[in-house]
Amino acid sequence: MSLIDDIKPGESKTIPRRHFLKIITGIFSGFITLTLAIPLIESLFGSVIKTKNKIFSKLTAYNAIPEDKPVNLTFLITEDDAFIKNVQPENVWVVKKSDSEAKVFSPVCPHLGCRYTWHADQKLFICPCHNSVFNAEGQVVSGPAPRPLDTLPTKVKDDNLYVLWERFKPGIPKKEII
Ligand code: FES
Repeated sequence: MSLIDDIKPGESKTIPRRHFLKIITGIFSGFITLTLAIPLIESLFGSVIKTKNKIFSKLTAYNAIPEDKPVNLTFLITEDDAFIKNVQPENVWVVKKSDSEAKVFSPVCPHLGCRYTWHADQKLFICPCHNSVFNAEGQVVSGPAPRPLDTLPTKVKDDNLYVLWERFKPGIPKKEII
């Protein structure tokens, strides 16, 4: 039954105080539930390391990354935006060089911001938008990209690889954080 159904003929069509309080309580409870759920989501899908104003998100166990090929890993980014905590999925390209060295590339092409992919048959990253081509080191092989693929800061803790999600200005030779 809707609130309007509760209103009898001749009564004012304002929402009764009792219902208004129910609605406000419901909204408030939902907000509290969401706030409590975010740490749970983080613990289920990927924990974070917090340094001063920076949040490193867990990518995967370091040992789980294959050494012979770039892998695309999806993770959850946590961003503190004033009073609201945003959690959203992102992905990066990881190239593991050895047991102690891995490069993590932003999936965003430094030319104009499209998403590139790894072409295993050619052993190259290729951007479909304007055909920029990069090798597994992230260096430009051909195309209009003005700089190599952008690497992201990483940390290794308890044998897990963490990444700091950053965005960079497209279309310029220098890597600059937005
Ligand atoms: S956006 Fe990738 S080549 Fe232009």
